[in-house]
Amino acid sequence: MTERVVLAYSGGLDTSIAVRWLMENHGVEVIAVAVDVGQAADTGGEDWDAIRSRALAAGAIEATVIDARAEMAEDYCIPAILANAKYEGKYPLVSALSRPVIVKHLVAEARRHGASYVAHGCTGKGNDQVRFEVGTRALAPDLNVLAPARVWGLTREDSIEYAAKWGIPLTVTKEKLYSIDENLWGKAIECGVIEDPWNRPPEDVYTMTVPTATEPTEVTIGFESGVPVSLDGRMLAPEPLIAELNTLVGSFGYGRLDMVENRRVGIKSRETYECPAAMALLLAHSDLEDLTLERDVHHEKVRLEPRWAELVYDGLWFSPLKQALDAFFNETQKHVTGEVRLRLDQGRCWVVGRRSPVSLYDHGLATYDASDTFRHQDAEGFVRLWGLGVATWSAVQEGRAGNPGVAGR
Ligand code: ARG
Repeated sequence: MTERVVLAYSGGLDTSIAVRWLMENHGVEVIAVAVDVGQAADTGGEDWDAIRSRALAAGAIEATVIDARAEMAEDYCIPAILANAKYEGKYPLVSALSRPVIVKHLVAEARRHGASYVAHGCTGKGNDQVRFEVGTRALAPDLNVLAPARVWGLTREDSIEYAAKWGIPLTVTKEKLYSIDENLWGKAIECGVIEDPWNRPPEDVYTMTVPTATEPTEVTIGFESGVPVSLDGRMLAPEPLIAELNTLVGSFGYGRLDMVENRRVGIKSRETYECPAAMALLLAHSDLEDLTLERDVHHEKVRLEPRWAELVYDGLWFSPLKQALDAFFNETQKHVTGEVRLRLDQGRCWVVGRRSPVSLYDHGLATYDASDTFRHQDAEGFVRLWGLGVATWSAVQEGRAGNPGVAGR
């Protein structure tokens, strides 16, 4: 039997010619699998029928489109919220979150079709190859991975010629300005003039954060055990909630990022992102944690969060440490329930209020007015013992006279 390959198919130039290239160079049958993770939502969504037909025209024996939008929201964006995940303190892991979803479906399709390979269209310079391959090896150590774009040595012009030679229909007519990857959690824009880190990203790179709103507004996000469940009191499932926030927050031009980041393969790259819903949700979620997490749990969680983001960025979504951190984060979220009020105005989004039925903020303890319930007399002994160690050190080893044990009696 001819060997089969399941290819992660986007409908773009590279993955389209990859179909034919794999057939010609490896003598395999290609099954194209396109996964809808919410890409192009701001422009009305992808034309999946056209994408399927293109894969078949390129020579695929089968082309499947999988709607993974709800799964992307529930099983990938939500854990990222619980982990307050931002790689290098900034990037909410947009592309890094979608790759494991895609890998999961590739592996399932490979099993269904009895394929011995999965393939992707990534080059050798990026993180996505790492995520596809390490993810595949984690879920199916017996499957091999093919990465044609890493070996074919075709320029963009060569690729267009190759497509024409094999009658592969493409929509690329004008010069492609940027390399774009998008999903429900946001959009990554690379290449072109923004490869020079000094160049200001031209306005035309932005589609999700075009500032069209004219009046400031507020939105209240409700959370249950860390999971966003409502907008202004309306209960919503994760996917529509994130989609709606992308539109609302994006219309204020909030959620843009311009950064230089460290790729896993050792390259620094200049990245431009738009992630309006992600930035707003992370802001609101971590604010609610300020109100509801006990201090030690909170401090420990904050130490572990960057590690989670790093693992996911580095392609280790399916790994034992990531699983263990998820278990810890889940445990911390039991009481992260309540509401956060966000205000939006001209490129800004900030928290203006928060409340929770299990808030650890005790007005009686915090207030300076007459309703104060704090036992002031307890403070004196507490503070004396708190400072006893340094007072002893100062008297004995620094030679600052006195007997700290009896001082101030
Ligand atoms: N640098 C980002 C990341 O590694 C974005 C990658 C975008 N991918 C792409 N194929 N354009 O997560």
